[in-house]
Order: sequence, then C-alpha cells, then structure tokens
Amino acid sequence: MSRVSLTAEAAGALAQQHGTPFYFYDLPVLHERVLRAKTALPATLLYAVKANPNAELVRSLHGLVGGLDVSSLGEVELALRCGWRAEQLSFAGPGKTPHELQQAVERGVLISVESLRELSAVAAMGKRARVRLRLNPSHRTQAYRVSMIGGPSPFGIDEEELALATEHLRRHAAAIDFDGVHVHPGGQCTSVGAFAAAAAATLDLVERLGLPVRTVNFGGGFGVLGSGEELDIEACGRRLGTMLEKFRAATGQKIEAVLELGRWLVGPAGLYVARVVSEKRSRGKHFVMLDGGMNHHLGATGHLAPEDAPRVTVMNLSRPDAPMTTRTITGPLCTPLDTFGEVELPEPEVGDLLAVTNSGAYGYSFSPLLFLGHPAPAEAVKAG
Ligand SMILES: Cc1ncc(COP(=O)(O)O)c(C=O)c1O
Repeated sequence: MSRVSLTAEAAGALAQQHGTPFYFYDLPVLHERVLRAKTALPATLLYAVKANPNAELVRSLHGLVGGLDVSSLGEVELALRCGWRAEQLSFAGPGKTPHELQQAVERGVLISVESLRELSAVAAMGKRARVRLRLNPSHRTQAYRVSMIGGPSPFGIDEEELALATEHLRRHAAAIDFDGVHVHPGGQCTSVGAFAAAAAATLDLVERLGLPVRTVNFGGGFGVLGSGEELDIEACGRRLGTMLEKFRAATGQKIEAVLELGRWLVGPAGLYVARVVSEKRSRGKHFVMLDGGMNHHLGATGHLAPEDAPRVTVMNLSRPDAPMTTRTITGPLCTPLDTFGEVELPEPEVGDLLAVTNSGAYGYSFSPLLFLGHPAPAEAVKAG
C-alpha cells in the first residue's frame, strides 16, 4: 500500500478514459503517509498546498492534517472551496500584495510575515492579525539540496534583525496577535542531522526573541529523491521530540511544534504516465520518445535539482515482466532539455505506457504546460 501500484489493465483503462499522458494520484497511499508522519512527529502536521494543489486531494486531507500551508490568495481560495476554514490556513510568501494581505487578515488567515515592512503593513490593516514571524537564521544548511536560510534571502526576517522584530511586535501588540515563529530551511533534505541542526537553530532564535511564543513552525523540506531515497521521518521525530522536551524544560515555554510538509507526503503517492510514441538509435544510444516530458513534469527532467538527475525511476506498466534494459527516455519537445535521462526499465515498445514514479509533488502545477502547445495532462485520482 505504501507504494502506488497500477496494473496494466487499470493503466490501460485510465489511458482510454483520459487519453495520455496523465497524472495518477493514489489517495490511500497519501493518507497512509500522512498517518505515518503524524505518528512519527511530535508536531501538528500541515500540508503544503504548493506541492500538489489538486482539489480532490486537498479536500481529502480534511480531518487528517491540522491545516494547510498556502502561498497566495489563489491557494487561500482553493482551500476555502475545498472546505477548509480560514483559521486553519497559514500564509507564507515573500511578495504578498496589499490586497492579499488585506483579504487574509479580514478572513482570519494566519500570516507568516516575511519582513519588517510586511509586519508594519499587517499591523495597519485595521483588524487584529494573527502573525508568525518568519525568520532567516544565519545557520547554513548545505544538506538541504534547496537551501532557503543562512544567506541573503527574500524569505523571512534576518536573524540580525531579531531585536528590531521584537520591538515591532511589542509596539504593535494591539494590532497583532503574535502566534510564534516560522523557519522553512529549504527543500529536499535527506539528512536527519541537517534537519535537527536547522531545528536547533530555530529554537535558539525562539529563545532569544524574548517574547512568549505559542507555536514554532519548523517548515517543510523533507526530501524524497527520484531514486526513492527519502528522509527518515521517524528518526527526525525522535530528534525533534528530545529537543522540544529540553527546550520546554529550560524555558518553561509550552510551545507547540508545527511542520508543513509537501513533497514527503505526496510525492510518492503519484505517477506520471505517458505513452511511448517513437524510438530511434543514434550513435550508440537508444532513445525512447514519450508523448509528454518536461512540459508536464519539469522536476523529473532534473533541471530543478541537477544533483538528483537523471535518477528517476520509470516503470513499464504495459510490460512489467519484459527483460531489463537501458534507454534514454525523452519527451516530445524540440529541446535537448526534454529528457528523463538514461533509465533502466523493462524493455519498452512503441505503444507501451510508462510511469515515472514519485510524481505526486511539484508536477502538474510546477511545469511549463503551455510550452509547444501540447495538451495538458489529465489528473486521475484514486479515492481514499
Ligand atoms: C514556506 C514553505 N513551507 C513548506 C514548503 C514545502 O516544502 P516541501 O514540499 O519540500 O516539504 C515550502 C516549499 O517551498 C515552503 O516554501
């Protein structure tokens, strides 16, 4: 159950119904991963909508996660349409417009404030705003393949401005309901030590803030690589539990921990299924062309995280028992960037349905769908 499986018959039926390519999201697999994360982590678990904003999927997480991390008014409205309440949403993002801020404050969405300027803007909205301070610690995390703290950054208030932020919060106490601190260290972390180091840096800032804090949001970024390697969530939970206990004992603050995961929860719950439309040999390489590629699934072509390329895992759904072979898998686009790389898989033939695994996160909504005018893929959802 913890892996998506799709038989040749089921894949064929979906291809008939939707055409190809299509994404396939397996909600039972997603829900099982959510339960595993909740068991492992001593924290309230939020789902980061940006990882996969499919409405059926977002709706299905009701009662399973404690809320949603959203990053635009569009995501706020999607969440509300999917039955979430505004007070269950936490809104981060470096370029919130005055309109977005106003709407979020009026509706009671919690705002992760990214700068002192944004803090002042929120304080002037005329309605008391629920606020977390997003901070940018000076701690660097090489082990997050996408690092979002430690350097100059549009995300969060620099650690060097911590005292100023405290002063702002004190000054605007009537206009701001200060909830706590938020640090999102980055993405694609598979090191428990790196997660723990970032969490320790966060708790250090909380301690130095000098204000009572209700919640500490440790962000997301739990990694799952194309090869299938993923962050050991149980080990992270144990490390975080120990740190929280020590922090609470040392400071007397009964903070509640929050984590907002996207990729780790939903990545392994999705497949990208495309059909082999052509093949050719060229100067010692055997190419297999699919009817979709980076236009639908930019992340899997490795251009967003080159260190993870070209290690995607591709299944041959039509011919799973064919002898294993190596092929260079490409999409249909007129650019050499459109390749899933050299992949070992059961020997594919023209007409076969192939599936890129670990495609549930940062796929459909994170790809240049309009490039070259191919139709967008369908999204097929297996209900939970
Ligand atoms: C503020 C914030 N929280 C959470 C996430 C989710 O990250 P991931 O999907 O890597 O868990 C992101 C992703 O960019 C983010 O920017």
